[in-house]
Amino acid sequence: MAGDPFDLFNIWFAEAQASEPNDPEAMALATADAAGRPSLRMVLMKDHGPAGFTFYTNEGSNKGRELAENSRAALLFHWKSLRRQVRAEGPVEVVSEAEADAYFATRGRESQLGSWASDQSRPLDSRATFEARFEKAQERFAGTDVPRPPYWLGYRLTPERIEFWTDRPHRLHERRLFTRSGSGWDESLLYP
Ligand SMILES: Cc1cc2nc3c(=O)[nH]c(=O)nc-3n(C[C@H](O)[C@H](O)[C@H](O)COP(=O)(O)O)c2cc1C
Repeated sequence: MAGDPFDLFNIWFAEAQASEPNDPEAMALATADAAGRPSLRMVLMKDHGPAGFTFYTNEGSNKGRELAENSRAALLFHWKSLRRQVRAEGPVEVVSEAEADAYFATRGRESQLGSWASDQSRPLDSRATFEARFEKAQERFAGTDVPRPPYWLGYRLTPERIEFWTDRPHRLHERRLFTRSGSGWDESLLYP
C-alpha cells in the first residue's frame, strides 16, 4: 500500500502557487460524448482533496452536455515553471447544491452576473447581444444578492488514477502512478 497521492498533490500545488506566474489552479479537462469523441478545454480547480478535484461550469456547455452523456473524464495540470505535470482520470459527479451555492457566493458580482448572461458554448450573433444580456441581468438583480443560476454546477472528478510526472535531464523523466486499491492506493513507476 502506498501513501496518499493527495498529500503529494498538496505539496506540488503549494509549490506551483509559489512559482507559477498565473493560474496555478488551471487544468485541462478532457471529456467525451457518448460516441467517444473527445474534447478538451481549460477550467479552474476550485477545490481538491481525497474526494477529488472540483470545477464549476454551465451544464448546458459542451463539456456539461458531454459529462451528462459520459461521466468519465480526465484532467491535467501542467506547471511549466516547475516542469511538472499531474494527470488524473475517473468518474465525475455533480457536487451538492449547497456546495455550489457556497462557492458561487464567493465570486465577484460581475462574474455572478456573467454566469446569468452567458449561454455558454451556444452560438452568439454579436458581442452586443451578450452585453445586453449582462445589462439585463444587472437590472434583474439590482439591489439584491445574485443567486446561483440553476444550470451553473460544480463537478468533482474522483480519480481512479493519478500520475505525477517530473522532468529529468536527457528526457529520463520520472513518472509515479497511483491507482486506487480498495480504500487506499497502490504506487508504481512507469517508463517515461
Ligand atoms: C485558464 C482558463 C481557465 C478557465 N476556467 C474555466 C472554468 O473554471 N469554467 C468554465 O466553464 N470555463 C473556464 N474556462 C473557459 C473554457 O476553457 C471554455 O472556453 C468554456 O468553458 C467552454 O468550453 P466547452 O464549450 O468545451 O464547454 C477557462 C479558460 C481558461 C483559458
